[in-house]
Amino acid sequence: MNPPYDDADWWREAVIYEVYLRSFVDGNGDGVGDIAGLRSRLQYLSDLGVDAIWINPWYPSPMADAGYDVIDQRDIDPEFGTLESAEALIDEAHEYGLRVILDVVPNHTSELRPWFIEAVIGGSGCPGRARYHFRTGRGEHGELPPNNWVSEFGGSTWTRVTEPDGTPGEWYLHLFSPQQPDLNWNHPDVREDFALTLRFWFDRGVDGFRIDVAHYLVKGDDLPDLQEGGYASGEHPHWDREALHDIYRDWRRIADSYTPPRMFVAEAWVESAQRLVRYVRPDELHTAFNFDFLASPWLPDPLRRAIDETLAAHESVGAAPTWVLSNHDVARHVSRYARQQVEGIARFLDDYLDRPADLSVGIRRARAAVVQMLALPGCAYLYFGEELGLPEVEDLPDEVLLDPMFQRSGRTSRGRDGCRVPLPWSGDAPPYGFSHSVRTWLPQPFDWARYAVAAQEGDPASMLEFYRTAIRLRHSHPALGDGSMQWVPTPEGVLGFAREPDFLCVVNYSAEPIVLPEGAEILLSSVEFAAGAGLPGDTAVWLDVPRL
Ligand code: NOJ
Ligand code: CA
Repeated sequence: MNPPYDDADWWREAVIYEVYLRSFVDGNGDGVGDIAGLRSRLQYLSDLGVDAIWINPWYPSPMADAGYDVIDQRDIDPEFGTLESAEALIDEAHEYGLRVILDVVPNHTSELRPWFIEAVIGGSGCPGRARYHFRTGRGEHGELPPNNWVSEFGGSTWTRVTEPDGTPGEWYLHLFSPQQPDLNWNHPDVREDFALTLRFWFDRGVDGFRIDVAHYLVKGDDLPDLQEGGYASGEHPHWDREALHDIYRDWRRIADSYTPPRMFVAEAWVESAQRLVRYVRPDELHTAFNFDFLASPWLPDPLRRAIDETLAAHESVGAAPTWVLSNHDVARHVSRYARQQVEGIARFLDDYLDRPADLSVGIRRARAAVVQMLALPGCAYLYFGEELGLPEVEDLPDEVLLDPMFQRSGRTSRGRDGCRVPLPWSGDAPPYGFSHSVRTWLPQPFDWARYAVAAQEGDPASMLEFYRTAIRLRHSHPALGDGSMQWVPTPEGVLGFAREPDFLCVVNYSAEPIVLPEGAEILLSSVEFAAGAGLPGDTAVWLDVPRL
């Protein structure tokens, strides 16, 4: 067991594992991962050496968007378990020294949340409509959406309701799917309800929350059409607006009222690191995901830029940066890195499909990438299965795709199911020990036996054992975790940074081997290489370099 991590600022340097609950382990044999499954594998997470787990939404939901359409944030979906099993999980995780972070989804609810049902059946002008954004349509008979906004999943952000008298009526706003109506954060009930939700889980020992689309909650009062040519910072009608920060200051006060204080990590897709760190000023949230790093190609210049901008911006507010390579919304990085790397932001499978892939290159770069990531100052997030080297499943048949992005985009975007396929634990064929049922909620590929936990455990060359070693070393090395770093001069195609005491991380992105500093001892290497041959391409090392 890991010792309990009792540092109050634990989130400044933790390694946090995103448990995609539907796909982690199925405890009851219905083909869907659940709380019972997760409880049975806490030992695995403890052995991996992570400090905390982040669990994607487990609340009652019709699952129109894999649980990001919530009916009641203070209960558990029966597909995943019960409130009692969730409480037991939180306690058991703590016994293993694992902190627990939940997802909170404040921008929208499910269309089946009683609040929304009330608003629809109450008719135009009923008080319940004020908790959401209802508007009359444009056009002679209100037949056109109230504005020109486009949903994240494609199509309009507006859906028209049928009024209680059977006539076509008002429209409601949904930045995501029509099953996810946006809440009105100017309404006191909404603020109060989320304060209750935070307290509900904090009272049960939850250590923190990941805030879903933290940049979207507040909208401009008149919901104007989006203008051509963009907006000055903070002026966009539904994106990164100033009034968000008061909400997060309130939430911070709630988190700080607990002993030990609880933490937040924001999912905020904003235009720059400078805008991002406004969410992590001292009286606001603690951390925010760093998507510039995630979306950067495996190339030294954009990576160095992302690292520099992140560090400088976080330094300016005294917050700890976070680093992440994959999550449940992007193509797995093994598959992204398996392609020829080009500058530009690309994160979905569709950005890569037409480029030929070499998975052995992807795996090699993924090993180097985690060596780099775990050496950077701050907190690191892992996405379930990356420790096994899982690739994106790129050939899921159309009929199994569930991500609303697929249908809403007119089937032009494959969506995000390919990074959510259930984890292989053991055995030679699906379901690879994930479930007792062969009918898993998404099908697993037939060639995944080699990725299974049981196939990798004990093999020192495996990705799994490599992750275990790297995480263990990160925890035990005094230079790693929170703190600062300095770039060192390196040849083209190489990055190197030093940390005190006596630590150097060198990453070679080029095809040519490079000579390592004399007298340096290799603490960790992403692949084995012959002593004296130089550091090969797509390889990263941690070095002990006395007397820097
Ligand atoms: C971000 C989540 O990570 C994603 O999975 C979800 O579809 C949207 N927010 C909407 O909640
Ligand atoms: Ca299940």
